[in-house]
Amino acid sequence: MKIAIVGAGYVGLVTGACFADFGHDVVCVDKDQPRVDALNRCEVPIYEPGLVELLRSNLGAGRLTFTTDLKLAVAGAEVVFIAVGTPSRRGDGHADLTYVHEAARQIATAVSGFTLVVTKSTVPVGTGDEVAQIIATTNPEADIAVVSNPEFLREGAAIEDFKRPDRIVVGIEDERARAVMTEVYRPLYLNQAPLMFTGRRTAELTKYAANAFLAMKVTFINEIADLCEATGADVQQVARGIGLDNRIGAKFLHAGPGYGGSCFPKDTLALVKIGQDHDSPMRLVETTIAINEQRKRAMSRKVIAACGGDVRGKTIGVLGLTFKPNTDDMREAPSIDIIQGLVDRGAHVVAYDPQGMVAARMLVDGTVDFADSAYEVAVDADALVLVTEWNEFRSLDLARIKAAMKSAVFVDLRNIYRRDEVVRHGFDYTSIGRPAGAIADGVPESVGAAGEPL
Ligand code: UDX
Repeated sequence: MKIAIVGAGYVGLVTGACFADFGHDVVCVDKDQPRVDALNRCEVPIYEPGLVELLRSNLGAGRLTFTTDLKLAVAGAEVVFIAVGTPSRRGDGHADLTYVHEAARQIATAVSGFTLVVTKSTVPVGTGDEVAQIIATTNPEADIAVVSNPEFLREGAAIEDFKRPDRIVVGIEDERARAVMTEVYRPLYLNQAPLMFTGRRTAELTKYAANAFLAMKVTFINEIADLCEATGADVQQVARGIGLDNRIGAKFLHAGPGYGGSCFPKDTLALVKIGQDHDSPMRLVETTIAINEQRKRAMSRKVIAACGGDVRGKTIGVLGLTFKPNTDDMREAPSIDIIQGLVDRGAHVVAYDPQGMVAARMLVDGTVDFADSAYEVAVDADALVLVTEWNEFRSLDLARIKAAMKSAVFVDLRNIYRRDEVVRHGFDYTSIGRPAGAIADGVPESVGAAGEPL
């Protein structure tokens, strides 16, 4: 099939590369000429495992190209995906649809023949109607069907998620779209991935509901972790105990410093606004947002408590800055609030992240010194705080770390270490929802990446 993708950002790039890999002819359009030139040379502006390789093979095979020429790309396409950004609108938290509307207007003047216009961007309920309206007004001759096909990609695992999805949700209002979308996803359909056809508004809402539910699940286990600390219970075993119930499921039950990233904070906020607009309040989601906001600052107080209640003049080493591992994304990362909380109380912060330092420098430069490795962070530190669970932090040489530090305080905000192991090395160890004295049942305390079953 001939596919055009408007917007070569994170979602557009991954979607384009994966569709090309299915054998479709894909043209990705972006306004940014230097970005397009770089992509045609296979220089990828973001860090996503496997993406460079996928781009290289499909650019090489001629199935994937990048251009600034929207008209040409759209004119030759049977399906046009809109994958532009929908950031939070400044001031009110609504999703900002400026780019979506602009894309719709440009697509309207360029389509030729029956064309599907598919929103991949996360958009509020009713946006598909707006896109259809804009296109009809701009070009009454255009023969189009507007489809909603939200993405459920996790950063750091996006290609895997695209190729092995739990489901593909397709919202249509025009029956002609069904056959075309089935063809677009045929390779996955053959792999038994459920292709769920539904109404356009249902598909739009499904995306928000999925992200909000996951954000609530994480926030729930974070609150349970606090209660574990207050009562002497162990959150990892509570998570295991509830997660083995199939109705609950084991994923997204890793307690931590709070969720961040480009999706959960923005989409939960937007869902609350959608609820307000329709006089149907999203009270659980509102509460989730408030708890998560407070939690990030609470984590700096936890570090301060671990340092004896005062960090003035102390050096705190921070391991991991990105909102989660395997990404260079710093958006809404808990590390930002945690570091600010420590700096506000007079601490000197030294940080290291395997991929996030370029983005971090732009956000926290001036308040933080950067190091080149975990071991460098440890030099003369009064405490070490593990904020993001990168694999390279999972098997640190604890003896070497301790020898480098001024005092052996280790705060593990992702629970990736076993208490007994860290304590054996002479550390004062603080983790999340696993108080000293909580009894383990033989199940390893240390767990996989966030989101994986315990
Ligand atoms: C999310 C959704 O998972 C994805 O389907 C959607 O398309 C985009 O938003 P992403 O933002 O990449 O993906 O990250 P995700 O892996 O879902 O993690 C979100 C946040 O929750 C991270 O800050 C992570 O650290 C946190 N988290 C996740 C936990 O604290 N505990 C968990 O058990 C799982």
